[in-house]
Amino acid sequence: MPMRTGEIRIHDAEGFEGMRKAGRLVAECLDMIAPHVQPGVTTAHLDDLIREFVYDHGAQSATIGYRGYEHASCISLNHVICHGIPGDRELKNGDIANIDVTVIVDGWHGDHSRMYAAGTPKRLAERLMDVTYESLMAGIAAVKPGNRFGDIGAAISEIARKNRYSVVDDFCGHGLGRLFHDEPNVVHSAKAGTGPELKEGMFFTIEPMLNVGRKDAAILKDGWTAVTRDRKLSAQFEHSVGVTKDGCEIFTASPTGLHTPHKAA
Ligand code: MF3
Ligand code: CO
Ligand code: CO
Repeated sequence: MPMRTGEIRIHDAEGFEGMRKAGRLVAECLDMIAPHVQPGVTTAHLDDLIREFVYDHGAQSATIGYRGYEHASCISLNHVICHGIPGDRELKNGDIANIDVTVIVDGWHGDHSRMYAAGTPKRLAERLMDVTYESLMAGIAAVKPGNRFGDIGAAISEIARKNRYSVVDDFCGHGLGRLFHDEPNVVHSAKAGTGPELKEGMFFTIEPMLNVGRKDAAILKDGWTAVTRDRKLSAQFEHSVGVTKDGCEIFTASPTGLHTPHKAA
């Protein structure tokens, strides 16, 4: 296992090939789970399906055993920002959920999350999910050699600002590859033109968390669950990307187009 060096690693074609496989599997996993996100289902059941899918495909879960975490997914409902622990909570009509899964395939990490709705979400929730997805894609559109990491955060925070949502700054995207969390921290609220320069071969996640209310987060006593302090809604989407010659490749794109499953029929 390589160690964090403090520098942003540059990967070669073999790395892209590895990330493509890991990214595709985790995208297929989040496609698989979409029809199961229904009122009455527990988050533990969704996690069971995810763990079985990962193992059945000969992959590993990066989160099981990670700093004592015991589950194959994080499932973050409503006012939970991220790192929600699967359990016996049953989904109710109108709940929104971020499901975040990280797999390891041949040593490469695919880290990906999407929003889902159980039954019919309220308009406010649907709009928050739509804008959060839009902010992720705006961040991704800023990824190309010569731009800076701050350009990503600037694009995301501009979309949030226009829609009067706040951007959580307690959690960041991160470099990844053979490591789960590597340099750099990818901040989601930043000034254009700041931060390290983007170079071909860099791999990282972009995973903005947008809140309806204030950006402030608190961690529950379980040591994981991050919630909004004002208990208002939060949403998140995450892709793993690699910088190419003139833009980027999204390793975790959905093969069946279920990027925003809350929209799918
Ligand atoms: N997948 C999360 C991320 O995007 C990390 C989850 S770590 C866990 O970086 F232990 F909470 F699962
Ligand atoms: Co991540
Ligand atoms: Co993740």
